[in-house]
Order: sequence, then structure tokens, then C-alpha cells
Amino acid sequence: MSESTVLENAHGIASPARDEGPRAFIKSFGCQMNVYDAERMGDLAAEAGYREASRVEDADLIVLNTCHIRERASEKIYSELGKLRQLKEERGRAGRRTMLVVAGCVAQAEGAEILRRQPAVDIVVGPQSYHRLPELLSEARIRPGVVDTEFPAEDKFSRLPASPLDTIRRRGVAAFVTVQEGCDKFCSFCVVPYTRGAEASRPVAAVLEEIARLAGAGVREVTLLGQNVNAYHGLDGDGQAIGLAGLIHAASLTRGISRVRYTTSHPSDMSDDLIEAHRGIPALAPYLHLPIQSGSDAVLKSMNRRHRAADYLDIVARVRAARPDIALSSDFIVGYPGETDADFDRTLALVRAVGCASAYAFKYSPRPGTPAADMARQVDAGTKERRLAELQGLIEEQRQAFNRATVGRRLEVLFEKPGKREGQVVGRSPYMQAVFADGPKSLIGALRQVEILAAEPHSLRGRIVSPAS
Ligand code: 5AD
Ligand code: SF4
Repeated sequence: MSESTVLENAHGIASPARDEGPRAFIKSFGCQMNVYDAERMGDLAAEAGYREASRVEDADLIVLNTCHIRERASEKIYSELGKLRQLKEERGRAGRRTMLVVAGCVAQAEGAEILRRQPAVDIVVGPQSYHRLPELLSEARIRPGVVDTEFPAEDKFSRLPASPLDTIRRRGVAAFVTVQEGCDKFCSFCVVPYTRGAEASRPVAAVLEEIARLAGAGVREVTLLGQNVNAYHGLDGDGQAIGLAGLIHAASLTRGISRVRYTTSHPSDMSDDLIEAHRGIPALAPYLHLPIQSGSDAVLKSMNRRHRAADYLDIVARVRAARPDIALSSDFIVGYPGETDADFDRTLALVRAVGCASAYAFKYSPRPGTPAADMARQVDAGTKERRLAELQGLIEEQRQAFNRATVGRRLEVLFEKPGKREGQVVGRSPYMQAVFADGPKSLIGALRQVEILAAEPHSLRGRIVSPAS
């Protein structure tokens, strides 16, 4: 609640304005799918009568949408919950009840253990059952401490309310749409198959309907999301399975949609028609996030990745043949059990061979219940630290080189928001670079040709050269 909405009651004690109604604050950690899920939980809360709180202190409902991918991400939740318990108590003393919800992948992985570690939590709900949030809230109001980590048979998506049009507008002109969820690959280091469950694809019509609604409310760019998005195989109206390339094509034909992206892909599912889509579909942005994790075949084998470094380089060559200017991105893990200096050097060599526009490197973090956590030859913290620094240094060099190479070029920019300084607008190039230029706010949602003048550390500076493209 902001200062201005506090009313003095007859006894001079500050209390919330009665006509204000309850408010919800939803905080997301982790991947883009969690961002999407948090938005959908926001839609559910809105339907249940909650308006959005801009500050956690004002919220009657607080949801932490958590990530379990690395230990640090998980542990952060408990320190956050400690602070929220205090807030909940303070609000309680002021006569205001706060419902505290832990959602997402930590909720799925730890379930009732969360209630044991932090009894102030009212609800623990996993990523496959958050559509039940309204019922769980009713239940927890009577009996706090509800846990729902089922993988229900019913389709979560069909039970979610459509996002209101004004909410979509507020969220911006680039939106996420989950099209596939879960993972059947079981990489030895990864919790996703356990937290998100088996691979499942949404039907084509449901995805296209959601995209059309987004476009109708001003969205110009959609990113199709899946933990294994290129394993998408949703059914069309005739009961035929359609792959990701077909879905991208259909999405690109949606009126109002100018750009389509997809993430995250697995090298084993990089089919020929998806590669060809990069040649044939102009709206498909020339950007590919394709995690490899390591450049060493021995490590890849131990990771149960089902591909070798050479297979990855072959895919990269074929994607580049289809779309020469494509920006490539990847994920790497350093210090995986058994990784030697020679293995790590192979990762550096692979990065040099690929030439990444951006990439993410992580220190291996043992996750309970995954095979790699119990493997012998765990790598010590110092070695992980040193390898991470070296790999991140190389990635940063490549990122800057990629950005510098766009100086002097004209790129099509989708403007998304006002810039830091008055009179500026910021958007993204087709290669996902942040680009800012002088221009009015009315350009938000517009695509413009922008001449790139300079590469700054985290963005490109440009000059708008075309009225419209
Ligand atoms: N330790 C470190 N990084 C991990 N990732 C997944 N699991 C782990 C782990 N146990 C990384 C992978 C993945 C990205 C989302 O997170 O690189 O692609
Ligand atoms: Fe984190 Fe993976 Fe869950 Fe996303 S799916 S929130 S990255 S554990």
C-alpha cells in the first residue's frame, strides 16, 4: 500500500482503505517460463479479485515463483521467505492477513519440506498445478499449509483465464508463450525432468489463439517457450502432430505479429525443417539459443547429452548456411564431475570455433536426486571459479566483437520502452541486442530501421533512419 492510500480511521490508526480491495505481488526467479507462469498466476489472482501491488509491503497475497536449477537459486528463496515472515507478522499486527505462496520448481522439488523450514508459508504449489491457485487460497484461508505438487491429468492451460487485454498492453509489445513443457532427456546434472515433468506440447490451435489475442492487444513479437521447445509436437485440428517449424510458420502469419523467436532448444531436436525455417520464414528472428554445456565428448557422454561436440558444430554450420547472419547463443557448465583441464580446454576451443553472440556459463551445482550429484571426481570450488572466469572472459570478448560488428549497419529494431534519458526509446535488434535511439514514446510497438552508431558495454546506440519498415 502506498502512503497516499492509507486512511486515518476514527481512532487515528492507519489502516488500509476499505474500497481498495486486496492486492497481489508476484515475484519470479529463474527462466523465461517462470516469467510466463508468473504472468498467468497474475491473471488468476486478478480473476480472484486481487489487483497488482507495486510493492511487496502492500500485498495481501505474495507469490514467490521459484527456480531450483542451481543450489544458489534455491537457497535464495529461504532467505527471502525469512524476510517475508517478518513482513507477514508486522501486517498481522496491523490486522491485515497476508497469504504467502511458494510456487515454481523449488515448490515442486521440496514440497512440504518448505513448510517445515518456513511455517509462515500458506501454500506450496508446483508448476503443473498453479491453475488451482484460487481453490488453494480458499483452502489455505481455513487451514494454512496446503501443498499441491501433483501432476494433474487436466490440462493446466485450458483452465487458465485468458489474460485481460489491458494487462497484455501493460506487459509490453514482446511476449512469451509457453508451447511445450517438461523434458524427457534426463541430462545427468538437471532437475527439470523432475520439477517440470514429462515433455508435453500444447495443441496448435490453443497456441495460435493465445498469440492472436496477444497481437490484438498490441504484441508484435512472440517468443515460443519450452524447456525443450524444438521437441514441440502439438496436434493440429486434424489430429496431426505439427513440429516447431510448422508452429513458427503459423505464428508468423498471425496478423500483427512481426517477429517470432523460440527458446530453449536441444541439439538432438534441431530438425532439418527447423533449420530451413531460418532460411524461409522472414519473421523468424536470426537468433538461436542452443545449449551445448561442454566441448568435451567425454563430459557430454557423462552428462547423458546424446550428442558430441562435432554434431553441434555440424548443426551450427547448417544453421549458418540457412541464415548466415544468425546470432548464436549457448549454455555451458564448468566443473562438471570428472572435467579435466583438457576437457575444459575443449570447451574453450568449441566457443572459439562457434563464435557466440552471447552465452551463459555456470559452475556445476550438484542437485539432490540427479545422477551427477552422486558421481565421483567432483571438481573443487577453486577450479570451478577459475574455469568460470576464463570462459566468461572469452564469452564477453565474443559478445563485444559481435556487437562491434553491427556498428555502421542498419538493423530493424522493435521499440519496447522509453529509454533511460528523456526523449529516448529502447528496443531490440533481430539479434536480441538492446538498441537505444532518440525518438518519441509513440514509437513503442513500432519497427524501425536504425543505423547503429556505437557499441556501448550493454547496448547499442543508434539513429532512426526510416519512418517505417
Ligand atoms: N549446475 C549448473 N548449471 C546447471 N544448469 C542446469 N543444471 C545445472 C546444474 N546442476 C544450466 C545448464 C542449462 C541452464 C538453464 O542451466 O547450462 O542449460
Ligand atoms: Fe529454474 Fe528450470 Fe524450473 Fe525454469 S524450469 S524455473 S530454469 S528449474
